[in-house]
Amino acid sequence: MKIIMYSVRSEEQPFIDIYAAAHPDLQIETHAEVLTQENIEWAKGSDAVCILPRGPVTRDMFARLHAFGIHIFATRSVGYETFDLVAAREFGITITNVPSYSPSAIAEFAVALTLDLFRNTRSLYRRVEQQNFVWQGLMGREINGQTVGIVGTGHIGAVAAKAFAGFGAQVIAYDKYPKAELSESGLLTYVDSLDELFAAADIISFHCPLTPENTGCVNDDSIKLMKDGVHIINTARGKLIDSKALLAGLRSGKVAGAALDVYDNEAPYYGQDWNGKEIEDETLNAFLAMDNVLITPHVAFYTHVAIQNMVDIALNSVLEVAQTGTSRNIVQG
Ligand code: NAD
Ligand code: COI
Repeated sequence: MKIIMYSVRSEEQPFIDIYAAAHPDLQIETHAEVLTQENIEWAKGSDAVCILPRGPVTRDMFARLHAFGIHIFATRSVGYETFDLVAAREFGITITNVPSYSPSAIAEFAVALTLDLFRNTRSLYRRVEQQNFVWQGLMGREINGQTVGIVGTGHIGAVAAKAFAGFGAQVIAYDKYPKAELSESGLLTYVDSLDELFAAADIISFHCPLTPENTGCVNDDSIKLMKDGVHIINTARGKLIDSKALLAGLRSGKVAGAALDVYDNEAPYYGQDWNGKEIEDETLNAFLAMDNVLITPHVAFYTHVAIQNMVDIALNSVLEVAQTGTSRNIVQG
């Protein structure tokens, strides 16, 4: 069996090599390039494709894989919202994801971003680098005693809820499918709607998938519902937030701070060295200039544990589907 892997970074290669050595019947071809309309040709002759998504996987792409006789398509990510799942089903292509490679990686990052915002670390470190040791303007806040609103209490949201609770926060949550065990344990209290969470939380942290119903759920109207001085943390998906509305909320002071590991127009920039080049996205430029906004390039997942699991679990799922026709990591479209 042959698997072609796209978007392979150097730190993944050793894990792929170990996997290949343990599976001598398996041929794995790796490419650094992201899968595109143009290079999908490279998949001809393979039995399965394994990617890390950046940008859409379209109907036409699934049609071409079908034409190449490829019926297994694995993503090394949790998210798969940019795939045309209807087309995949039509062309008989089974898609797998990695539902849980290290929830702690992302949850810890969300908490770290919150602490950075609350303790003004961006200004603090910049000031100290300039040998300025003045305290003024650096007085922080404490997570202890705050109401944290977790949106999405799955693998990552549940870990984030525990971490915030560990700091002494009161945790409320909204989930389309609430998990009784989390509320029954006393860890968190579910509210009935996103609006209710927006109105009650001092810190809002997103851990849900992007869906048509929650796209742009942070917007001019929902920001009006939020508490004055709210902090917004997004490690889920950029399109959950209408960035222009958030910028207006920050400029008015209604939103005291935001930490964005994901951004609606991240694709052209993240993963690239843009130093010395002009960023055309005016909203991103504005965010980058604000001390109370932390922008990180979609790296919440990026830990040693996560990378190894992403490779191993994605490749295991491919073999499982090839050998048994099924896997619990099959994505339901
Ligand atoms: P998960 O499937 O375990 O949990 C998602 C939770 O969201 C579930 O409990 C689900 O019921 C809930 N949900 C679904 N639709 C909802 C809605 N409209 N409103 C509220 N809740 C809803 O997923 P996870 O592993 O916890 O990951 C969550 C998201 O985090 C992923 O979908 C992905 O977008 C993002 N993510 C980001 C990174 C990163 O590096 N920044 C890494 C991994 C995942
Ligand atoms: C995910 O796994 O969903 C992520 O956001 C990580 C990214 C490298 C695709």
